[in-house]
Amino acid sequence: MEIKYDLKPASERRTEQFKPEGNVGFGSLRTDHMFLMDYHDGEWRDPRIVPYGPFEMAPGAMALHYGQSIFEGAKAFMHEDGEIYTFRINKNAERMNRSADIVCIPNIDEQMQIDAINALIDVDRLWFPMQEGACLYIRPFIFATEDRLSVSPSSRYTFCVVLSPSGAYYAAGVNKGIRLLISKTYHRAVSGGTGASKAAGNYAASLRAGKAAAQFGASQVLYLDANNQQIEEAGAMNHFHILKDGTVIIPTFTDTILKSITSQSIMELSELLGCEVRQETVMLDKFIADIESGEIIEAGGFGTAAVVSAVGSYIFEDGRVVTVGNGEVGEHIQRIYKLYTDIQKGHVQGPEGWVK
Ligand code: COI
Repeated sequence: MEIKYDLKPASERRTEQFKPEGNVGFGSLRTDHMFLMDYHDGEWRDPRIVPYGPFEMAPGAMALHYGQSIFEGAKAFMHEDGEIYTFRINKNAERMNRSADIVCIPNIDEQMQIDAINALIDVDRLWFPMQEGACLYIRPFIFATEDRLSVSPSSRYTFCVVLSPSGAYYAAGVNKGIRLLISKTYHRAVSGGTGASKAAGNYAASLRAGKAAAQFGASQVLYLDANNQQIEEAGAMNHFHILKDGTVIIPTFTDTILKSITSQSIMELSELLGCEVRQETVMLDKFIADIESGEIIEAGGFGTAAVVSAVGSYIFEDGRVVTVGNGEVGEHIQRIYKLYTDIQKGHVQGPEGWVK
């Protein structure tokens, strides 16, 4: 499908490469334009790039009432040749359709999603933030727009892509370990639910748990399965831990765990990393015992926004604290972070087709 362009007048657009002075932070800034495409009468139609701005939407739009809405998060990086390269957005396009299936939203051809993202980046390339560690964060999302209050899948949707010049998700970047609250009160997902999708409602449901975490001085919640036996996710990231022989363990993907593209990539990089990366069911009690015995030496989270975050300590709801290693960011995590971000930035050649 051919994309139509209705761009801002040149005098209102960015005219020079963005060189932010302070740290750009994560997710607050927008570029000049956005991509839109609508679904109705059984087809995605009218792909277009327009100035970034508010939507006109019926107050009865079903996304507003029943949360039929999904999103993706991806990144693009500027390489030394001055070109902007996306990182594995084919995986995001694939996952968008998996999420769409879970909340009954019609799929969008993967190549169409990729073309939309590339076209938007091309139009707003001067917004790439020239700052160490910064990127263009790509946020594609789909929401139900039919004006109807009965509970069933909408017949109308909008697909939108916005770009956010961004820096590190956590202010301290990868340099400081975060604390996770091990919550037996709040759960993110149950089997048969929407946990494996990037449904907006999953994130709304995490806010109350996030508030509880903050009361314990924690940045995020370590989510357990509904029976409080197994480790599932670390806030908006996949969880992982590292054994003393360097093996990286990620909880097995189930229908209650989001299939993180960062986790999948780290698994695919095991040879380059020189260590085994595998998935298994992680039992909470054994995990804690293994930290205390020194069998587990590092732990953290994998996610697109945060990349690789180290966990310095865990806190239980009764106040008990378990520190991982010496609580600092360990050498394995630093090595994983460096290889991964070096591939994203084009400093190291990654597997074929990751950077395009
Ligand atoms: C991402 O890592 O891109 C995410 O989706 C996390 C986001 C909720 C900030």
